Amino acid sequence: MTVPRKQKISHKASQFTESVIREMTRVALKYDAVNLAQGFPDFPCPPELKRAACQAVEEDINQYAITWGDKAFREAIAEKVRWYLGLHVDPEQEITVTCGSTEAMAAAILATVNPGEEVIVFEPYYENYGPDAILAGATPRYVPLHPPEWTFDETQLRQAFSDRTKAIIINTPHNPTGKVFTREELSFIAELCQQWDVLALTDEIYEHILYDQTQHVALATLPGMGERTITINGLSKTYSVTGWRIGYILANSHLTAAIRKVHDFLTVGAPAPLQRAGVAAMQLPANYYEELAKLYHQKRARILQILDAVGIPYFLPKGAYYVFADISAFGYKNDVEFTEFLIKEIGVAVVPGSSFFSNADKGKNFIRFCFSKKLETLAKAQERLLKLQAILQTTR
Ligand SMILES: Cc1ncc(COP(=O)(O)O)c(C=O)c1O
Repeated sequence: MTVPRKQKISHKASQFTESVIREMTRVALKYDAVNLAQGFPDFPCPPELKRAACQAVEEDINQYAITWGDKAFREAIAEKVRWYLGLHVDPEQEITVTCGSTEAMAAAILATVNPGEEVIVFEPYYENYGPDAILAGATPRYVPLHPPEWTFDETQLRQAFSDRTKAIIINTPHNPTGKVFTREELSFIAELCQQWDVLALTDEIYEHILYDQTQHVALATLPGMGERTITINGLSKTYSVTGWRIGYILANSHLTAAIRKVHDFLTVGAPAPLQRAGVAAMQLPANYYEELAKLYHQKRARILQILDAVGIPYFLPKGAYYVFADISAFGYKNDVEFTEFLIKEIGVAVVPGSSFFSNADKGKNFIRFCFSKKLETLAKAQERLLKLQAILQTTR
């Protein structure tokens, strides 16, 4: 079909595809598959948040909030990051509230990166980062993380930095591998950022979902990094409210001023009553986070038990709520074909590994399971996944 000239889509929009992760949820619904694809909990959020949200609506907090965020919410964020991360931020000048950390990353990149500049992204990566860089007219420069520990090679990382580099994106705990960057790794990155005068954009949305005594280190707390780190976070994962679309950005006042302008013209602001409920989230006591970590520990144990029973090898996640698994033993052509089979014939939706790589071939042996699900949901998935054992027996 010839497309009339004015109907042609932009060069930028034609450089990326729809999100595979979100598409998998639609396919899962179509085939009534258990959805272990998209990263959202299927269990309720804390009652304190629900009550605060209802109360805010009842109290008529229903008009635009201040574009860069409700004052009470920004103050509550500043207090929470002070005690949890050891970060001291000025809620008046160094915080921007956004529509999820998705908008946060897009706004931060659009506010700081110019066309022609490069943004370093570790690969595999959460699929939004590539399109975010492209929307800013920048070039993503991918640096591989190597299995089984998903470490980077220091020489490869050093070689990726140049005069063209404007920023590096670090996602810790990491989606899809569950890697948690160590203090040593972050210090190495910090040194390169300072040497090349590069900004660090850190996506720390899984900061509280950690296993086996692993510690989360905020890059902004390392020496020399407070001024050049843009810390991105949100309510979605820690408080099980992915549909609320509330995120936030911490950055120095100069960067924040630019980010706030971009944010204003992108969305005006995040939902006002839900920002008010965000105050209740930020004020939850420390034991909320301990219980959350315990809950996820139990869920991780359950999904690993399922994968062990079926015989699917995987990389042990140290953080976040995904398991990246190796499907090479099943003898399928690639991850997309295997995922289709899994959804349509077995009844379980996952995300094909290739959606986390710039080159589909690199991801063809992987799939990602999300385990932020009720134990009943995981049990249902187990029942279905056990059918895979028969295939493994014939291919071995
Ligand atoms: C690493 C990472 N960043 C950001 C997001 C999106 O977060 P939000 O709901 O705050 O936009 C996700 C969602 O899966 C994610 O895995």
